[in-house]
Amino acid sequence: MSLPGKPDLRVFPDLKALSRAAAESVVALAEAAVRENGRFTMALSGGSTPRALHRLLARDYRDSIPWPQVHIFWGDERFVPPDDSRSNYRMARKALLDRVPIPEQQIHPMLTLLPQPGQAADAYQATLRGSFPGQWPHLDLILLGLASDGHTASLFPNSSALEENERWVVAIRADVRPPLRLTLTVPAINHAANIHFLVAGKSKAPALRSALADNADPKLSPAAAIEPVDGKLVWWVDEAAGSL
Ligand code: 6PG
Repeated sequence: MSLPGKPDLRVFPDLKALSRAAAESVVALAEAAVRENGRFTMALSGGSTPRALHRLLARDYRDSIPWPQVHIFWGDERFVPPDDSRSNYRMARKALLDRVPIPEQQIHPMLTLLPQPGQAADAYQATLRGSFPGQWPHLDLILLGLASDGHTASLFPNSSALEENERWVVAIRADVRPPLRLTLTVPAINHAANIHFLVAGKSKAPALRSALADNADPKLSPAAAIEPVDGKLVWWVDEAAGSL
């Protein structure tokens, strides 16, 4: 547990160790959510860091998670076809979802085959509203990564998306490849019960230090905008990322 006002920062020797600890936390959260609410709702992040976690959940912890009661969402997605090598959905399917007994109708991808990103954002907002009645979505767990440029989900530095305080999902164009993306907004993320950042590698050390600084500027370090309204935030980092 962390001291009031201090981040709950858990440092591990390497990605393998942090992924195992994070996987054990997912198991505990899933068991508690199913016990209390009959379901476990989790949003996956993209990028490569979560791959080791996905594999652990699909193998070592496969039988510890009540997959028939799990509902999977995404925190963000690249606006590319679902079979594109850059798709977060494709990465999660290959490393995790194709290997566990989760009902197909409980996997909720962002629809990137719609003609326009804005339509896909609206469609995903409707999908979330179908699972989370109320003013904001209350996911049991949102997994997030941190990029070396400071972005998290697809919330990029100086993006107007960082000011969005009504929509749950927005379409954005960023100066990265691929440029068109869909992302949960800051308030949609901040209403989750648990938010877990997974950060590994020396290249992330400056972005992590900026995000955790007392005077962090959310416009420059979007991860600093992530503050659960009434949930818990945990940073799972390796020594290299935490080296600063
Ligand atoms: C994405 C991700 C993004 C990712 C960070 C870290 O779609 O790219 O959601 O926010 O988490 O870029 O990516 P790595 O884990 O690959 O470093």
